[in-house]
Amino acid sequence: MRRMDIRSIEWKNDSIRIIDQTKLPAKLEYLDIKDIKTLWQAIKVLKVRGAPALGAAAALGVYLGIKDVRAPDFAGFNVQLGKVIDYLGSSRPTARNLFWGLERMRFVALKNKSRPIVAIKKLLFVEAQSIIEEDRVACRKIGEYGSRLIAKKDTILTVCNAGILATIDYGTALGVIYRAQEKGKDVKVYACETRPLLQGARLTVWELMKNGVDVTLNCDNMAATLMAQGKIDKVIAGADRIAANGDTANKIGTYSLAVLAQHHKIPFYIAAPASTFDLKIRTGKDIPIEQRKAEEVTELFFKDRMSHKDIKVFNPAFDVTPHNLITAIISDKGVIRPSYLKNIKKVIC
Ligand code: MRU
Repeated sequence: MRRMDIRSIEWKNDSIRIIDQTKLPAKLEYLDIKDIKTLWQAIKVLKVRGAPALGAAAALGVYLGIKDVRAPDFAGFNVQLGKVIDYLGSSRPTARNLFWGLERMRFVALKNKSRPIVAIKKLLFVEAQSIIEEDRVACRKIGEYGSRLIAKKDTILTVCNAGILATIDYGTALGVIYRAQEKGKDVKVYACETRPLLQGARLTVWELMKNGVDVTLNCDNMAATLMAQGKIDKVIAGADRIAANGDTANKIGTYSLAVLAQHHKIPFYIAAPASTFDLKIRTGKDIPIEQRKAEEVTELFFKDRMSHKDIKVFNPAFDVTPHNLITAIISDKGVIRPSYLKNIKKVIC
């Protein structure tokens, strides 16, 4: 079966074109973003989401924010650039890729500061395109490395959406599944719905079905039962940020899957490109975890409010899975196994 050819994010018609992921699965709708305020908002409300896609959004966003800047010299240009970078960096705190994308853009500008502003702008555009191309290649490599860990008839549990929609193409956790399928393995998937924003139910199910993967949807609280019934061979999740010791922030609920997997002696894998690793952060304790609006828990996706109007709500968007629960990290540079503190550096740097 030919893989669905969609672009979650790209530069088109002098604007950033994204798939509006809040409209899926009902509608596949594209949005042309022409200013960074609209981009910031799109990131905030998860119209564009997933760590690698956010890296691309950051890079293209920097170009969008500076392409019309008029400055007499580099110093003036750099002030505007700094404002754009800080602004985009304030959209969501957890995904390392977003900051990695911003840092790469800043670095290119500084490295070329003696050139004319128009040349710097061109170089920034080229850098944003390289970031996009690199992610495309990285996901293919993750898919290839990861697929070697998958047995012929494995059933895989995943959470959130770490697929085509969350990256430039192919995905990380879902890339492993796509590659295994291409190799003729008869993989099946259980997708956790992923409360509260339902990335699993809305996005993962949509893209896996479009690509002919056998997928079943389960509520998050059904994972233990699935494992106890022997229905799951492997768990594979994506990542938003991986600390130097392997502790991994990913969508809220990932940690509980890792605990359950250990109890049931099921391998638990994280799949992520090098751009998700943050080696300056030693452990998961230092990863900033985004707190989101209470309404996402009490109202969103329901016609009527489904909880008491004065209820206090706990709504972190991510959790941290301790490294000792992770069987291996599937990266674009190879599969990393414990001890992570030593091996991440060896493989990633
Ligand atoms: O809040 P989201 O939907 O942006 O969270 C996304 C995830 O947690 C993904 O698993 C992660 O970014 C990896 S995407 C390849």
